[in-house]
Amino acid sequence: MIRKYRFGKPIPTDAVVKELDVQDTLPELFEADDKHIRIELDKDDIVYGLGQAVRGLDKRGYVYNSICSDEFMHTEDKTSLYGAHNFLLINSLDRTKSFAIFIDTPSELSFDVAFTNTSEINIDIKHSSYDLYVIKADSLPAIVAEFRELIGRSYIPPKWAFGYGQSRWSYNNADEVREVVRGHRDNGIPLDMVYLDIDYMDSFKDFTIDEEAFPDFEEFVNEMKSEHIHLIPIIDAGVKIEAGYDVYEEGVKEGYFCKKADGSNIICGVWPGEVHFPDFLNADARKWFGKKYDFLIDKGIDGFWNDMNEPAIFYTKDSLDTALDKMKTYKSEDINIHNFFTLKDMIANLSNNREDYKLFYHDYKGERYSHELVHNLYGYNMTRAAGEHFDSLDKDILMFSRASYIGAHRYGGIWQGDNHSWWSHIKLNMSMTMSLGMVGFLFTGADIGGFSSNTSPQLMLRWLEFGIFTPLMRNHSAIFTRQQEAFRFDNMSQMRDIIRIRYAMLDYIYEQFKSAVEANSLYMRPLSFDYPDDMIARKIEDEILVGDSIMIAPVYEQNATSRYVYLPEKMKMMRLSSPENIYEEVLEKGHHYIEVAMNEVLIFVKEGKDFVLGEANEYVD
Ligand code: GLC
Repeated sequence: MIRKYRFGKPIPTDAVVKELDVQDTLPELFEADDKHIRIELDKDDIVYGLGQAVRGLDKRGYVYNSICSDEFMHTEDKTSLYGAHNFLLINSLDRTKSFAIFIDTPSELSFDVAFTNTSEINIDIKHSSYDLYVIKADSLPAIVAEFRELIGRSYIPPKWAFGYGQSRWSYNNADEVREVVRGHRDNGIPLDMVYLDIDYMDSFKDFTIDEEAFPDFEEFVNEMKSEHIHLIPIIDAGVKIEAGYDVYEEGVKEGYFCKKADGSNIICGVWPGEVHFPDFLNADARKWFGKKYDFLIDKGIDGFWNDMNEPAIFYTKDSLDTALDKMKTYKSEDINIHNFFTLKDMIANLSNNREDYKLFYHDYKGERYSHELVHNLYGYNMTRAAGEHFDSLDKDILMFSRASYIGAHRYGGIWQGDNHSWWSHIKLNMSMTMSLGMVGFLFTGADIGGFSSNTSPQLMLRWLEFGIFTPLMRNHSAIFTRQQEAFRFDNMSQMRDIIRIRYAMLDYIYEQFKSAVEANSLYMRPLSFDYPDDMIARKIEDEILVGDSIMIAPVYEQNATSRYVYLPEKMKMMRLSSPENIYEEVLEKGHHYIEVAMNEVLIFVKEGKDFVLGEANEYVD
């Protein structure tokens, strides 16, 4: 059962797809007004939710801010990442008391989840006005199913998108891409996708090609197709300001860019230098931008990733000009420890400064809104621009994005952003994938191997051993870091065998993913969902149920070659080092300490369930 409550005059978000009547009597345990919600917690309550957020699966014990952020250091002290997913699921020991809430508002929120007061959730709604949905049902899966029905069916990508993808910021030209493809094919490492980061473009201009680096792009796309490789270009939110560049000129002429109070288009700095931001909240601008993807689709491209759409702002022209003027005054000053730090902060604070969100406006559903009020809808509506256009074409197109709000899950997936080559980020990848499924983003994955800093052969291998289960399986790394394609490591053959396991499981993964979408269930979920009466299983965060038949227990610690595994029921353990090398053993319910050699994956098959490996091909189609 879902009940809807309204506080103030909420700005519509298009997150939900069902109209519900507004109720007036709030359930027990709740206090709410237009700025604040307080919920009492029992000492044993677990709090799931928030989709993309730092820390573990149980969100209890920390504060989180719901504001889409270009956050490139996913450390524990961060309170926000790229998505805003205002959903909490309170899993109570007394199951009749379990429920979920969704706070539907496009502006910033903060969640104090038993951080200040250990028995309370306190939610502050910064700009007041919101719709509150309270979802009750008699089990955790039923609560998630009701919520997911409310927000509409999740995006299903083409089957080949469940293959393995190799990415790098950047493969700078066609020959570098060819080298990557050869490196995989020659070594028998399966591969379906190579991602093109910003350097495929001419001067980072969306919907252009650097003709020198990628001469005859259409021909190159075909050449890759003949190798069964899909090229997946990036599209950034900002449109470069450059006379003669059609996207810029049309956007200016039609008034499709975000404007300042004086009516001029706001100028911000991102990768291309100065850009304007398309007003994705404006339906006409969305339609216009969506059609621009045809520039690449017409060349044979059938997949994209949307980036920098929080939006990420390195600086606004106005704030940079002010800072540069201020710098001049420092020339005549004595620099001491105080003004040195003021100077340093002044420059550092130019990037992603929230004050800048007050400087521009959107034309949204017939009204003008300050960006600050609708910030969390920006990335959502960029994905929607693409998704709505793809829906109008009769083509199956891969789409995932960085920033998101609930609702975007109907148009694309998301990847988990700029993580690091840190062991703790395998663990974060595990919990975030489960939390994101609850809010509809089933098609997700993290940069396998880690984006920033240098990966190690062992970290890469262990990460792949988890990554073979995530719907989006992509190895991506940042500029200036060690190259981390599997074939570059001395344990390459182990990596190949692990990736081959993914391909042997592909039908299982694809079918289970699709049925989770259809049934509004979770493709990856915590044990508490299937074993609600098991008090040990209830608290476990590092074992994951994947689809109907299996459970996994990834290794995510350096040099570990064994780990603790709790089995909530008798299961068949499969120890795999390749699709052909499988050792099987039936293990009883209970506590086990299990050896897991560096090149092994453990899969636990539930009693009475089928889990059959297929052939490990080198590509999906
Ligand atoms: C952002 C993206 C990252 C990409 C980089 C360059 O940091 O999150 O994935 O490689 O921009 O485009």
